[in-house]
Amino acid sequence: MSNKSFYITTPIYYPSAKLHIGHAYCTTIADAMARFKRLAGYDVFFLTGSDEHGQKIQQAAEKEGITPIEYVDKIVAGFQALWKRLHISNDDFLRTSEPRHHRVVQEFFRRAKAKGDVYKGEYTGLYCTPCESYWTELQLDENGCCPDCHRPVEKVSEEAYFFKLSNYADRLLKHIEENPDFIRPTSRRNEMISFIQRGLDDLCISRTSFDWGIPVPDDEKHVIYVWFDALTNYVTAAGFFDDPEKFRKFWPADVHLVGKEIVRFHSIIWPAILMSLDLPLPKQIYGHGWLIVDGDKMSKSKGNVVDPNLLIDEFGADAIRYFLLREIALGQDGNFSRDALIGRINADLANDLGNLLHRTLNMIGKFQNGVIEDATTKNEIDAALIADAAELVAAYESGMENMEISPVMKRLGAFIGRANKYIDETAPWALAKDAAKKAELATVMYNLAESLRVISVLISPFMPETAPKIWAQLGMTGDIWDVRLDVVKAWGGVPAGQHIGQAEQLFPRIEVEKEEQPAKQEKQKAAPKQEKKAEKAEVNAEGVITIDEFKKTELRVAEVTAAERVPKTDKLMKLTLTLGDETREVVSGIADVYTAEELVGKHVILVANLKPAKLRGIVSHGMVLAASDGERLRLIETDMPAGSVVR
Ligand code: MSP
Repeated sequence: MSNKSFYITTPIYYPSAKLHIGHAYCTTIADAMARFKRLAGYDVFFLTGSDEHGQKIQQAAEKEGITPIEYVDKIVAGFQALWKRLHISNDDFLRTSEPRHHRVVQEFFRRAKAKGDVYKGEYTGLYCTPCESYWTELQLDENGCCPDCHRPVEKVSEEAYFFKLSNYADRLLKHIEENPDFIRPTSRRNEMISFIQRGLDDLCISRTSFDWGIPVPDDEKHVIYVWFDALTNYVTAAGFFDDPEKFRKFWPADVHLVGKEIVRFHSIIWPAILMSLDLPLPKQIYGHGWLIVDGDKMSKSKGNVVDPNLLIDEFGADAIRYFLLREIALGQDGNFSRDALIGRINADLANDLGNLLHRTLNMIGKFQNGVIEDATTKNEIDAALIADAAELVAAYESGMENMEISPVMKRLGAFIGRANKYIDETAPWALAKDAAKKAELATVMYNLAESLRVISVLISPFMPETAPKIWAQLGMTGDIWDVRLDVVKAWGGVPAGQHIGQAEQLFPRIEVEKEEQPAKQEKQKAAPKQEKKAEKAEVNAEGVITIDEFKKTELRVAEVTAAERVPKTDKLMKLTLTLGDETREVVSGIADVYTAEELVGKHVILVANLKPAKLRGIVSHGMVLAASDGERLRLIETDMPAGSVVR
């Protein structure tokens, strides 16, 4: 038990439509925050759920010839299955159809009524009789007809209860002004202030035209309508009736995370209801932006609704989570595109993170028989890496406390880049050749393992599938979910003498299929001008590159230690190569020219710093060079030892 508590909520989702990537976005942000707070030592309560009542649901169920509860049960089971697949760590899932919620909503209604804030009046709206639905002027189609069936609507009135929202305008304004962080980001806060200043209408909170809802106490022909029911879920789940101790601990909520279009309900209606009941207001309403797809709003009619389940099938949950959290600045709209997703997976996950882990484990295996030995030396390069890690942890903590998820992930990415650079700077393969450098080599290996330990802990809120995998591959014992942020505040948490675990590739590189090339080209066309300029400066009109450009290519001599044809291909051969200090697997299109036996023992030239690529399911870590006159093809061979640098 901690004395620090954190209560975060997502909206409760309507079961009227299938959940799409936009809903997954919101829930993933809340999950990352909940996981971070647990890591930081808070007792966390993370709530999501489903908003099940209303006329639309009732009609949809009738169409299928089933009861509303049968209808929602099916859909809500789908929500829960999706959250599980996405590793959402919610502590509770509230369904508004549950009796625990009905009790609280009815009690709220009674109390607000007793206070004089609820009165009976008449609701006037535009009614579509065939659809049995009320619409507002703004919702009508371009001909002023029903937006669903496009038939005329008529103005009708029904008896309804109202909540005196207008009573609370002044108190609300005062609260928003006195609490600058009550509504975030500032743009939404400003919008809400002007909305209230224009004057508030009372809110209709009951309907008689359908009955799939919570009955109004003592007037059962009415059901409580939409927001009075939905918003109250946050209090029900916090234990308002069932668990007073929990309620004391977690209410008021720390953050209601919601999409920008429902900030108004959360920052005006909800606080007014709570004021009426003399309950404390939530500390913060955070309005995130909308996810658009390839630059367009998602909609069924455009056929561009992205199903998160299909994305998880294809790329895995962590890659999707990583993309959503890293790519989009919270509070702003963000674009989802397959190209951008694949780009991130390949660049950040397969290449930067994957290579750091792969290279580190490979070298510890090769040079130290899989044992992480103690670091007993420290030079400037080591000190710079350690200092960068300390700075990262501090920036991470303060950034996450302030919900700056994307900037924090970028900072983490910079550290991964720093650790990869540390390998190049320290050249462990050279240290390994010199017996006098054994201690320095051990230090480098230790610092790399320790960097990966820090990375695994810090990415755990974002990538809950990957973090424990890195942890286990480092040979760390204990459950990563039991560790707290303190364990990365000091350097040296990897126990010296620890044996690394089984190496496993985290994110194979994704090859873009041929038919997807045009999309990629489009993207390249749209690349920022600056990048294009830089490219131009590097390659002049004749296609000549500078010496600096050429130097970026790392060419090494490699010895073929094994070769095997890739089944069901004409040309592909899988080569196992040694560079002296490390072993690589490379796929090469030479099986029509050489037999496997001919290849073993050859000393060839390897492009060693090529981005890994997947060919027929095998990840190729580099490319061997061959000469061709258009007809014949021969590998370039040398008698220099494996590992030699080609200049
Ligand atoms: N049931 C209400 C919320 C009640 S909360 C007491 C509701 N449900 S919803 O299913 O329509 O939307 C739920 C959330 O999904 C909203 O916060 C909304 O902003 C979010 N999103 C819907 N489409 C979205 C995107 N394209 N992108 C990001 N979030 C989006 O409103």
